[in-house]
Amino acid sequence: MTDKNAELFERAQRVIPGGVNSPVRAFRAVGGTPRFISRAQGPYIFDAAGQRYIDYIGSWGPMILGHGHPAVLEAVQKAATEGFSFGAPTEREIELAEEIISLVPSIEQVRLVSSGTEAAMSAIRLARGATGRPMLIKFEGCYHGHADALLVKGGSGMATFGHPTSAGVPPEVVQHTLVLEYNNLEQLEEAFALHGDQLACVMLEPIAGNMNFVRAQVPFVRRLRELCTQHGALLAFDEVMTGFRVALGGAQSLYAQLIPGFAPDISVFGKVIGGGMPLAAFGASREVMSLLAPLGPVYQAGTLSGNPVATACGLATLREIRKPGFFDQLSATTASLVQGLDAAAQKAGVPMVFDHQGGMFGFFFASELPQHYNAVLATDKERFNRFFHAMLDRGVYLAPALYEAGFVSAAHTTDDIAATVSAAAEALALG
Ligand SMILES: Cc1ncc(COP(=O)(O)O)c(C=O)c1O
Repeated sequence: MTDKNAELFERAQRVIPGGVNSPVRAFRAVGGTPRFISRAQGPYIFDAAGQRYIDYIGSWGPMILGHGHPAVLEAVQKAATEGFSFGAPTEREIELAEEIISLVPSIEQVRLVSSGTEAAMSAIRLARGATGRPMLIKFEGCYHGHADALLVKGGSGMATFGHPTSAGVPPEVVQHTLVLEYNNLEQLEEAFALHGDQLACVMLEPIAGNMNFVRAQVPFVRRLRELCTQHGALLAFDEVMTGFRVALGGAQSLYAQLIPGFAPDISVFGKVIGGGMPLAAFGASREVMSLLAPLGPVYQAGTLSGNPVATACGLATLREIRKPGFFDQLSATTASLVQGLDAAAQKAGVPMVFDHQGGMFGFFFASELPQHYNAVLATDKERFNRFFHAMLDRGVYLAPALYEAGFVSAAHTTDDIAATVSAAAEALALG
């Protein structure tokens, strides 16, 4: 443990609750002192004590090109010189909207906002406005930001209403939110049978990155799509994490390959579309999006929405990742990491399972891949925590909680992967 990080943590805790501006950064799940990051370059982050780490968090997803990509840096520097914020429309917003729409065929219009929380919250309001219905379904273990109606966990029975997971959220605020088990078809059928005519939308993380890495199974997504269509509820894909990350067209493009004609009704994006700047978006058909103010009755607004520096950053990032071969290369890097870690685990005789898609991966200390949140909870947390610290000590920065996915960037080299795998072999041998 370096003194400089401990010293900064002490100081931070005096003026910032818990010393952090977003809870998971505090290392509470794994214990120990969070690293205070002073700079980053390519696949590396450097802490306040000058220690270098291979970064598998990538700011929790956005840094798909690695840190300080020259084309992105240039675009941001140019935009900053032109002005930080105008509170008036710009051509760059149109360009970014056009870029997003060209890559995601299910959406015809998009609105830019500043965070994934804001995008998901606005998408729900839009779905409620479009259907005139109050209820929504979410799934245990999926995170859609911290809007009141989404801070909810399941009730005791099947398809019962949930309880707030945060103080400050009155039970009445979550009374319209139904929380179901991920990948549980039976509960889904029951919920639609009981509440189908009251449902405004179902919100799904198609590959849930907030319970490490759990895929929605294809039959589950297929049936979910059918039920939403039959009952007139909107299917909202929260692709804040998976969008432009697991594939150029997001997770929905992968399901569309497996389910003929598949498309969600609303899509929510964040992270990669901002390239590391505060930017997120939600999009849908022109018909649904035209319900938003100023055209329609659903209110939604933002002082910094479509910020010119953030849009420059996002646009430059999307233009890089849409270059031919980008995702093949990124996927190959992720696959080589996962294969290396898997081989190290097998050699050490440690039961570990892995999954990955595009530039996102997950691993569990378990003998089979969990399909829902309770199964994630049943994996070996103590072992994860020991592994996390052993890796950190060896200069590899994994997410500091077993509930989080990992991210690989285009800047990670074969040497970085090899160094990570040999660190893992040592870490696993420690027990
Ligand atoms: C799937 C998903 N949706 C929404 C959010 C909220 O985004 P933000 O942190 O930008 O508010 C996150 C954040 O991690 C996320 O992973």
